[in-house]
Amino acid sequence: MDQRTPIRRAPTGHSSIRRTTPAAALLLALAVLGTVSACTGGVTGTPGAAGLRDPYFPKLGNGGYDVTHYGLTLDVDPTAHRLRGTAEITARATQDLSAFHLDLAGLDVESATVEGRPAAVNRAGRELTLRPDADVEDRLREGRTFRTVVRYSGSPQTITDADESEEGWLRTADGSLALGEPTGSMAWFPGNHHPSDKATYDIEVTVPKGLTAVSNGEPAARRTEGDRTTYSWHTPEPMASYLATVAIGKFETKESVTPDGIEVFTAVDPEVAEESAPVLGRLPEVMEWAAENFGPYPFTSTGVIIDREDDAGYALETQNRPFFPGPPDIGLLVHELAHQWFGNSVTPATWQDMWLNEGFATYAEWIWSEDFEDTPAQDSFDEAFDDDENWAFPPAEPPSAADISESPVYGRGAMVIHEIRLAMDDDEAFFDLIAGWPKAHRHGNASTEDFIAYVEEESGQDLTELWDTWLYGESRPPEG
Ligand code: TRP
Ligand code: ZN
Repeated sequence: MDQRTPIRRAPTGHSSIRRTTPAAALLLALAVLGTVSACTGGVTGTPGAAGLRDPYFPKLGNGGYDVTHYGLTLDVDPTAHRLRGTAEITARATQDLSAFHLDLAGLDVESATVEGRPAAVNRAGRELTLRPDADVEDRLREGRTFRTVVRYSGSPQTITDADESEEGWLRTADGSLALGEPTGSMAWFPGNHHPSDKATYDIEVTVPKGLTAVSNGEPAARRTEGDRTTYSWHTPEPMASYLATVAIGKFETKESVTPDGIEVFTAVDPEVAEESAPVLGRLPEVMEWAAENFGPYPFTSTGVIIDREDDAGYALETQNRPFFPGPPDIGLLVHELAHQWFGNSVTPATWQDMWLNEGFATYAEWIWSEDFEDTPAQDSFDEAFDDDENWAFPPAEPPSAADISESPVYGRGAMVIHEIRLAMDDDEAFFDLIAGWPKAHRHGNASTEDFIAYVEEESGQDLTELWDTWLYGESRPPEG
């Protein structure tokens, strides 16, 4: 055997947190290159990759493991804009691991353990590298499930996207708000922040008494100790991390049940409660309509979070309960609830597949208008066809990360769905196909290639020309 590089390990009893000093960087580089660890242990794992090579965010996510569950315990002081957190991450190794990465933007890591033993932590930009203690490396063999605990604190960042929109951890008029699409969730917890790694969640948030903390899933418990209240939320179905949310502030909360038996939890800022009431009253109707068109609702609970208009720049389909800055109109409510099937249950394999989210959610608005507003989907299509903005680039090929939320992804994405409807020329078969897609990939991920194969299989047609024109074509065809 050739000479092995001894890797210095964290001293027992506490972990060593290093900023990247030249010496640490050298050690890390050797560790990464060496692929073989300490001379004493004879362990043969290799480091997990620092990213999953997403076409738009190559460093997003991490290789070598799949997270199955996040247990997040947060203590938040919204006024001071400070957060202290503990992330318990349960993951399954997909290779023999000697080290692995977590994505985290900002915040200070106080300590980390893997399988209960202090792990060495290295920090470089938004990548944390954890090197488990040699004594537990055999618990990170391929196929085994291991537990990582990271304690962290600091002032969470607001991240400005490539398209200038703000996400991550936001300050609101009376509290805080976490929005994660596409990369913002790393501003409030360490994890595998690529949409392909879905997991269940327990999110526990402690806030000053008088404020409410709302999150995904179902409320599990609430307790007040002294001047702090703790809210616990449980998400039993898999969730991509960009759909995780926490909204802290003064909220009017209501619990009910839809006629289909789905639990409803709504949280509305008192300032906009009155104005929100009429559209909120239609939520059960939208849920029922959506289930008729898209199949059974994929989650245990539904609802909304409505904050004030200035609290964020856009609505987001956060899992179970979409977030709205101000009272939504009915079309926006339909859009964000449709995402629960298209995006949240069947989630893009990479950010290149975002048009599947927005195309379907926009098409849901078109069907709603057809059913309730005397506007045939064909009229919505024609309007989108005439809009030059929809022709800036092909929906399946946004030119850069700054473009993934631009008009073609929404408008032309929906035009692709409508073209499938025209090609099938059989509405019953078309609606079966629409409902079959989230069923085929329930709680999973799917790519554009998966969708093309699915539609051709279900319709029994070769639709090469349709994809070439509507999905990949650079310019508007001569006739609609
Ligand atoms: N995806 C969100 C929706 O369709 C909107 C959204 C999220 C967005 N992030 C964005 C729009 C950034 C523009 C820019 O509801
Ligand atoms: Zn959308």
